[in-house]
Amino acid sequence: MSRTLIVSNRLPTKVLRTDEGLTFQPSEGGLATGLGSIYRQGDNLWIGWPGLFVQDESEEEHIRTELRADNMAPVFLTENEIRDFYEGFSNSTLWPTFHYFSEFATYEQSHWEAYVAVNEKFCEAVLAEAGPEDTIWVHDYQLLLLPEMLRKARPEAAIGFFLHIPFPSQEIIRVLPWRSELLRGMLGADLIGFHTFGYLRHFLSAVSHLLGLSAQNGQIDTPTRSVRVDAFPMGIDYQRYALAAASEEAKKHVEEYKEAMRDTRVILSIDRLDYTKGIAQRLRAFELLLQRYPEWRGQVSLVMLVVPSRDQVPQYASLKEEIDELVGRINSQYRTIGWNPILYFYRSLPLEELAALYRLAEVALVTPMRDGMNLVAKEFIASKLDQHGVLILSERAGAARELSDAILINPTDINQLVEALHDALVMPEEEQATRLKAMQALVKRYNVFSWTKLFMNQLAYTKMKQHTLA
Ligand code: UDP
Ligand code: G6P
Repeated sequence: MSRTLIVSNRLPTKVLRTDEGLTFQPSEGGLATGLGSIYRQGDNLWIGWPGLFVQDESEEEHIRTELRADNMAPVFLTENEIRDFYEGFSNSTLWPTFHYFSEFATYEQSHWEAYVAVNEKFCEAVLAEAGPEDTIWVHDYQLLLLPEMLRKARPEAAIGFFLHIPFPSQEIIRVLPWRSELLRGMLGADLIGFHTFGYLRHFLSAVSHLLGLSAQNGQIDTPTRSVRVDAFPMGIDYQRYALAAASEEAKKHVEEYKEAMRDTRVILSIDRLDYTKGIAQRLRAFELLLQRYPEWRGQVSLVMLVVPSRDQVPQYASLKEEIDELVGRINSQYRTIGWNPILYFYRSLPLEELAALYRLAEVALVTPMRDGMNLVAKEFIASKLDQHGVLILSERAGAARELSDAILINPTDINQLVEALHDALVMPEEEQATRLKAMQALVKRYNVFSWTKLFMNQLAYTKMKQHTLA
């Protein structure tokens, strides 16, 4: 029977070393949470890194067995690979470049070499699992070279690739010394998917300018094969979030929080620690709201959840310090005995508590400088069962292309952010419901299941057409 092999750097389960030994926890990040509802179907398998360095062979074996029981196969990375491939090339070269933060990017030959080597390691892990009928679906920027490597080993395989982050303008991509290799790596796939048409256009322009390959009707003709490219905006598991928000447990949490906060109104902010998310700018905007509209003091709190992420990368460590300092400054200036302007949590929360926060919040403040999609925005929409709530969303998140009933803002325009916050807090309930209803219909319909189906059908169709033409 044919299976789908999902391949990504990060597995949906991460292994942690705690006092009690090795523990298994759900991973954060849109890729893991979004596809987490898919890989368990049938005989599918997810191949990826379990998130920690393991030296001991018996530990490796234990992890392998545990993950296998849940349709996962681990690829272990050495300490040097974690440093040079993961923190290095993936998160200090590609991540900043693709999010238009080129000033943060480093260009190290040794990091590039580690990137090539780890992509090869993944290639071997996939080849060890893949049968001739299996479909291989590679995900994200950590594995841009993998489709081409797999293609060389298995010329006939059905290979899909999806990029979960923005694809930037070719002016930005061409700065990378290894730009041609990276593009050629992606072109090993039969189908390449992006969240938006904007990213797709940038990719086509890069392929044309840098590799001299032209595209027609969503098809790039390479000297040996043709490759399909398309936009597939990723959705969420709508029911999972709607049900979690409706659960007794979430309801109980909401009541507790309300009592502890004495019914203060809540603006919610949830992200991984990342400079692309605009967290510091958001804090400054909240501070300005309290200055410009003193009537909100004592009435509204910003509940801010920052999930620890990549804290060994210098830019992330310094962002953490900046956030700590800003929160400290704003809270110490405005706090009263009975009111905290900002409730700041630096950790991750289980689904029921996340759902409770989504349910409790009147306003979700999602203001990334750049974001491939942003699933938090969609999860907030799915959780608003009473259709009471307002989404403020950055126009530079992929989700803004679909969620046009949000209050769309330019995240660098602090005045616009402050006014959007004020408007959200005074928005009539009827208008909130109209906007939410429209967005709920969309998020419910274009969920992660229809997204997967669309991608897989398109991949199967592309393969079939290749065979007909051959
Ligand atoms: N998330 C989580 N635990 C938390 C906070 C957030 O699992 O404590 C999830 C959140 O529900 C969402 C994902 O992390 O599904 C973040 O995805 P998003 O697309 O917004 O951003 P990314 O982290 O992928 O850049
Ligand atoms: C984003 C990326 C994913 C990544 C996730 C978490 O969603 O698109 O590829 O897995 O962030 O980051 P991490 O570095 O912890 O895997």
